[in-house]
Amino acid sequence: MRVVITGGAGFIGSHIADAYIAAGHEVLALDSLWEHGGGRRANLPEKAEFVHMDIRDAGVAGVFAEFKPDIVSHHAAQHSVAISARDPRYDADVNVMGMLNVLEAAVKTGVKKVVFASSAATYGNPERVPVVESSPQRPVSPYGITKMVTEHYLRFYRAEKGLDFTALRYGNVYGPRQDPNGEAGVIAIFIGRFLKREGVRIDWDGEQTRDYVYVKDVARANLAALERGSGECFVIGTGARTSVNDIYRALVEISGFEAPITRAERRAGDARDIGYDPALAREALQWAAQTNLRDGMRETYEYFAAL
Ligand SMILES: NC(=O)c1ccc[n+]([C@@H]2O[C@H](COP(=O)([O-])OP(=O)(O)OC[C@H]3O[C@@H](n4cnc5c(N)ncnc54)[C@H](O)[C@@H]3O)[C@@H](O)[C@H]2O)c1
Repeated sequence: MRVVITGGAGFIGSHIADAYIAAGHEVLALDSLWEHGGGRRANLPEKAEFVHMDIRDAGVAGVFAEFKPDIVSHHAAQHSVAISARDPRYDADVNVMGMLNVLEAAVKTGVKKVVFASSAATYGNPERVPVVESSPQRPVSPYGITKMVTEHYLRFYRAEKGLDFTALRYGNVYGPRQDPNGEAGVIAIFIGRFLKREGVRIDWDGEQTRDYVYVKDVARANLAALERGSGECFVIGTGARTSVNDIYRALVEISGFEAPITRAERRAGDARDIGYDPALAREALQWAAQTNLRDGMRETYEYFAAL
């Protein structure tokens, strides 16, 4: 198949490009290499075509018309919760207006399906864990709102314009190429500091838990979504929850360095426990995470150590 990946030079998008190319698909990555994002030209495999373009650009339709994708994987986004809170208009400009530009171009050029990088941020702070697809979506950030809104638009485009979709609501994705200087992604941030032999900050008591899913497993979910999951949204997580303290201890073991810890208050709005039940993805996408956290963390650590 021919696939355009918006945000294809980014952390997750570039792993999807790797997986699609390994499976024999043709890939074009369209990415603006946004200064606050994780996009790097060097993330992309040689066989992928690259177009340096903003998803809000009128030229997107022309790129699609020329490449003739069967599938559009929409991963470009203003991906920061903090920036979305500071500047909701910029967030909506990229994540809503940019997304609509992509969907319009897709309809115009006969694209069959959009695979969308949605987020567990659409759930806000869930009242019950594990979260499942039908859990109430009450986003608490403009970022979460624009991700949720996109799912609604996707339903509209499917019903009215025949553009199929699969939306993947990722949990906390980690792995090689994640930005270690970002605001989120505790594993990448900690690894960056461990490698510089610096201390780490642990908020609250460190016992808060999240579901950390390895980026190569996420790429496999995107492979499955090429063929399956028509018109559906899926929670993409491992089903396991891990505390920040456990991540710290695992990194001490992997690196042999006992990083000094600075303790800090709970950050406002932080949820205690967030976990997902990926049963629907198992059934409908025939996908399950395969990488255990320790192995994924070791691979990620080795990737950053070799840079
Ligand atoms: N990392 C996670 O844990 C996580 C969780 C849930 C959802 N997501 C979503 O997955 C997608 C990929 O996220 P990521 O973590 O790989 O971040 P990333 O920053 O590495 O990737 C996003 C890419 O989008 C590009 N981009 C940003 N604005 C653009 C624009 N206006 N036009 C074209 N390209 C633009 C960036 O240059 C970057 O390459 C995003 O949609 C994000 O919201 C990520």
